[in-house]
Amino acid sequence: MTEKGLTEKIALVASMIARAERIVVFTGAGISTESGIPDFRSPGGIWTRFDPDDFTIQKFIASDETRRKQWKILVEEGLFRNIEPNRAHRAIAELEQMGRLDCIITQNIDDLHQKAGSSQDRVYELHGNMQWAKCLDCSSLFAMEAIREQLLNGKEIPLCKRCHGMLKPNVVFFGEQLPLNTIEAATCHAESCDLFIVVGSSLAVQPASFMPGYAKAAGASLVIVNMSPTPCDRLADVVITEMAGKIMPRIVTETKKLLKNLPC
Ligand code: APR
Ligand code: ZN
Repeated sequence: MTEKGLTEKIALVASMIARAERIVVFTGAGISTESGIPDFRSPGGIWTRFDPDDFTIQKFIASDETRRKQWKILVEEGLFRNIEPNRAHRAIAELEQMGRLDCIITQNIDDLHQKAGSSQDRVYELHGNMQWAKCLDCSSLFAMEAIREQLLNGKEIPLCKRCHGMLKPNVVFFGEQLPLNTIEAATCHAESCDLFIVVGSSLAVQPASFMPGYAKAAGASLVIVNMSPTPCDRLADVVITEMAGKIMPRIVTETKKLLKNLPC
């Protein structure tokens, strides 16, 4: 895309944001790659190095060996590495501060929207949040930091401190029920927005990938910022195939200019 074409698209999206009444931003792993976290389906992504079948809830529960392997992968993949939000996360947090954001629906478990300043009660985490571990026996929740000591001191399969039951990261594994109340609330926001902006998702995994369609069916405009094609591109009003960290700050800057010139 030429710089001129890109600038025109950014101006168009900024005008859509300036005019919209209820804006939902939908994010996937692609928004966090510029924070150093690999996504899942790009070259070098997590599912190109590990088998998703190993991450089913059935396998996690079935065997010590699987649990040992999964905790090991999580630690090696940087479960405790200090990760920071990038310019794309911060741009979306700025939209909220400008009064231009209804909510964020995210598939990510990295807590980076909250770290960037987005309000917790405006972030719907469809796949949970890696900051917590849950006991499958007594349902106690523990901050992952508390588990860190056990893991980094050689404990291969951390156990619940309360009942010595099975601990699992509080994220959705394949084959596991998504948090129903979160899905319902997110669907309601998708169906009642007038602008739906996808940032960094292949839109490959259901039911999350239904959300853009719900918004479009309810009459919303659809914008997709993603480095590769998605199944919803044909539905979109604007598709920008560029890095989120480059585009989102430019969109926010253009929106601010428009809002400044709007009659009070
Ligand atoms: N800017 C914009 N797009 C990017 C960037 C970037 N910096 N980096 C990667 N992308 C794009 C990729 O081209 C890809 O299309 O982000 C998309 C990420 O897609 P996936 O890796 O499939 O991640 P996601 O859509 O979040 O996957 C959904 O699948 O395995 C499950 O639970 C997992 O939540 C995850 C779900
Ligand atoms: Zn317990």
